[in-house]
Amino acid sequence: MHSDGTLNPMSSPTAKLHRLFEGSGMEVFAKLDLLQLSGSTKERTANSLITSLLASGRLQPGGMIVESTSGNLGIALARQSVVRGIRFIAVVDENANRSALDIMRAYGARIEQVQTPSDGNKLAARRQRVQELLEKNPGAVTTNQYGSPDNPDAHFSTTMPEFMEAVDGKLDLLFVATSTTGTLLGCQQYLRHHQLETTLVAVDSVGSVLFGGETGQRRLPGLGAGIVTELSLQAEPDVVCRIEEIDMVRGCRTLARREGILAGASTGAIVAAMEQLVPGLTAGSRIGFLVHDSGVPYLHTVYDDQWVHNNLGVNVASEAASELQGTNPR
Ligand SMILES: Cc1ncc(COP(=O)(O)O)c(C=O)c1O
Repeated sequence: MHSDGTLNPMSSPTAKLHRLFEGSGMEVFAKLDLLQLSGSTKERTANSLITSLLASGRLQPGGMIVESTSGNLGIALARQSVVRGIRFIAVVDENANRSALDIMRAYGARIEQVQTPSDGNKLAARRQRVQELLEKNPGAVTTNQYGSPDNPDAHFSTTMPEFMEAVDGKLDLLFVATSTTGTLLGCQQYLRHHQLETTLVAVDSVGSVLFGGETGQRRLPGLGAGIVTELSLQAEPDVVCRIEEIDMVRGCRTLARREGILAGASTGAIVAAMEQLVPGLTAGSRIGFLVHDSGVPYLHTVYDDQWVHNNLGVNVASEAASELQGTNPR
């Protein structure tokens, strides 16, 4: 709780996982940010962005935030706006995830949907509408999650201190999923500030242009970026793992069935990245990762066999059956 009585991001619990890589000799720790009130790590980011805007006077109580977002940041900004007495407009396009929009509306946010322009550039159309709304509403601000230092600062000053305390200050590897790269950068800043030798692993998606990636189709939200974000220019992870969407699906399902943690696609990507690296690690290595969001909004994609078959061309149900019988060819 803030001193003014508003709810701030929770200190999320860290769980030690015994089943995920059973027999590998690794010690695996998961920080459960899916338990944040708005369901994701973005609760911390939204809190930090708004706190800083209010402290600088750029945003006044009763003021307005306008942001182009249809994902976890939008949900977190919508919730944070409620407890700060701020109005929030989310500018979205036709691809926006319906359940995310429903949650934002439930928190009282206004949704502005832009039509796709004839040149197909949805991002430009959303940016233009944000600009128009800022001009129409004096005192309204936008948060600049792609470039603001307050984004990584949320993770430098909350996520990492909590995580490191929970693991007695000792982690050999830390896996973080990337979109704006704010979370990754905050973790990097903390590790450097405290001169820790932890290997920082960035987990990105195939089709994301971060870290020299090639642009491509991405169907699952939360992971990757279509633009090289300003923050990513400062990010220097030790390792970058680029994961296919089908492996995010497999990773999510593995985590759900081995550990009873229902997570979203970016956390599934982290599980897939860990599967790649674990065999090469020394026994006894201590591995940490963030469970960035809950799997509930992904029930009709990642966890739906038919969706996976239709969109990713793989019969995951038969893979799971073969795994149970020990005949999985993977
Ligand atoms: C689902 C999900 N994946 C990944 C991330 C990391 O995103 P970013 O790089 O913007 O910090 C977040 C952050 O909250 C998230 O909610």
